[in-house]
Amino acid sequence: MDRRDEERPSPKVLKVDPLRPQWEAVEEAGRALREGLLVAFPTETVYGLGAHALKAEAVARIFIVKGRPPDNPVIVHVGYLEDVKVVAREVPKSALLLMARFWPGPLTLVLPRSPAVPDITTAGLDTVAVRMPSHPVALAIIRAAGVPVAAPSANRSGGPSPTRAEHVLEDLGSDVDMVVDGGPCPIGVESTVIDLAGEEPLLLRPGGVAREELEAVLGRPVRPGRGEEVARSPGTRHRHYAPRAQVIVVSGPELEAMARRFMAQGKRVGVIATGPIPLPAGCHLRVMANGLPQYARELFHILREMDHLGCDVILAEAVEERGLGLAIMDRLRRAAAR
Ligand code: TXA
Ligand code: MG
Repeated sequence: MDRRDEERPSPKVLKVDPLRPQWEAVEEAGRALREGLLVAFPTETVYGLGAHALKAEAVARIFIVKGRPPDNPVIVHVGYLEDVKVVAREVPKSALLLMARFWPGPLTLVLPRSPAVPDITTAGLDTVAVRMPSHPVALAIIRAAGVPVAAPSANRSGGPSPTRAEHVLEDLGSDVDMVVDGGPCPIGVESTVIDLAGEEPLLLRPGGVAREELEAVLGRPVRPGRGEEVARSPGTRHRHYAPRAQVIVVSGPELEAMARRFMAQGKRVGVIATGPIPLPAGCHLRVMANGLPQYARELFHILREMDHLGCDVILAEAVEERGLGLAIMDRLRRAAAR
């Protein structure tokens, strides 16, 4: 820690009940956002770093604090359906269908942008990403703010996303004005991002709402964006989710042998497995016995924890790319990319 860090004041931390957040705390966080301050708060997916989405100077601080490349736009969070019209100039029928079924919840819609949204929020794109979160704390704070709230994940750019208030403090500390601590995030991976601004709906990022569910509601296939199309979701180009340790995605039957091989080389090994496996002492094993929801919920925390344990290598068991499995595999592959 250098002297500058010691001198910076700590952010105000407000602890709230995740299901019935205290009114005073919600009001205080909402007011801070409205006044242009940076407030981190829990959503059902990950912690968000919130700022007034229509105030360019407030959003600019998000980019500075996160070390986020300026070509990566942020998601605008709304508290009421009517607010979508403030940030989007057009709301296609497909959007109405998806909003009716999945909002509030872990789904982000990319729509034609309204002129009310400053360039910095959308990185100059002609579209805006919008979502209404379902976490009672997030929803209450955004409603109290009374303005649309820009909020990327509240971590340093490139690292694992924050799913607990401790992660936010660890990454951003005194660079934020306020952290609302509502405990661990229940889903643990980010929202699904679907582009509805073009002819055909495109999946830009798999997440908390399964692709199969989107297809069922829209009554048509939703294919993943490719090349130029994904370039419309610039975030997908940047380094993401990576802990310090090297992450390797491994199929279940190969886990044990691979762990033993790395241990024989004197490496400190962490293993994330979907079921119990015999491993030598000294290997850090985390078993996701409760299925994909547990894997998603704990993934980013485990990546951070294994860094703290000094792991050189993290072996993560691959899962089938169906339902939440698609988002888990997307995050694992990106965490593994160097
Ligand atoms: O679950 C979530 O979505 C969390 C919580 C806090 O709501 N937020 C989040 O934000 O994950 P962030 O900034 O980490 O990821 C936003 C993603 C990026 O991949 C970005 O490129 C994409 O959404 N995005 C934002 N605006 C876009 C736009 N206009 N067109 C295409 N992609 C966009
Ligand atoms: Mg992020």
